[in-house]
Amino acid sequence: MIKADGLVKEFMTASGSVKAVDDIDMQVEDGKFVALVGESGSGKSTLLSLLGALSKPNAGSFLVDDTDITRLNDHDLIRYRRDSVGFVFQNYSLVPNLSALENVMLPMEFSGMPREERKKRAAELLSQVGLDGDKQARKPARLSGGEQQRVGIARALANHPRLILADEPTGNLDSKTGQNIITLLRELSRSENTTIVAATHDLSIEEQCDRIYRIRDGKFIDNGDDAA
Ligand SMILES: Nc1ncnc2c1ncn2[C@@H]1O[C@H](COP(=O)(O)OP(=O)(O)O)[C@@H](O)[C@H]1O
Ligand SMILES: [Mg+2]
Repeated sequence: MIKADGLVKEFMTASGSVKAVDDIDMQVEDGKFVALVGESGSGKSTLLSLLGALSKPNAGSFLVDDTDITRLNDHDLIRYRRDSVGFVFQNYSLVPNLSALENVMLPMEFSGMPREERKKRAAELLSQVGLDGDKQARKPARLSGGEQQRVGIARALANHPRLILADEPTGNLDSKTGQNIITLLRELSRSENTTIVAATHDLSIEEQCDRIYRIRDGKFIDNGDDAA
């Protein structure tokens, strides 16, 4: 279970302060796939960065399995981001001069896994997301957008995260490719019992997720109604 209570993130700008996240409460059971839906500037990315401990809230708490992430010291924050969270980005954020396989190996290197083991797990993860053989050896520029996002997802899974945060994961993909990526995430949330929170404008994510949180001006405008 992950549980946010009263999360606030305020930015100071030249024209005054902006509450990008304004008193957000949310609660998601393990293995659920939830969507954050809202217009550009509504606070989706800022909320994801709080959940991933990439930034600190001005107020509120965020519990992951009873640990309040907002109270961790720097050392434990690094471990949380590395071992408990997988990030998936709109632009994939792969390392361009590494192969698909090496990109997926990278997070396991940071967590100290021996090289042969990393290689084996990376190959398995890439197969799991549908990339086999020669494609595993290719650099990102020689893969399609959908394939690059599959690498991004395999990388996000590397350290067995209990939470995957995806910021507009289908934003750069055509609708059919995007649909396949969503189906993949949907299946992973079930098979790995991983909680997924995805920010999106994509209607097909809305159709496949367990719950939708609609956000406007940093606030949820409903209580996360179950998707129809
Ligand atoms: N680092 C920042 N400094 C100042 N304002 C920011 C910063 N990041 C985001 N904002 C503002 O916070 C609001 C929410 O932004 P964001 O979370 O990126 O929205 P979304 O991801 O839904 O498009 C916007 O008004 C944006 O301009
Ligand atoms: Mg955003």
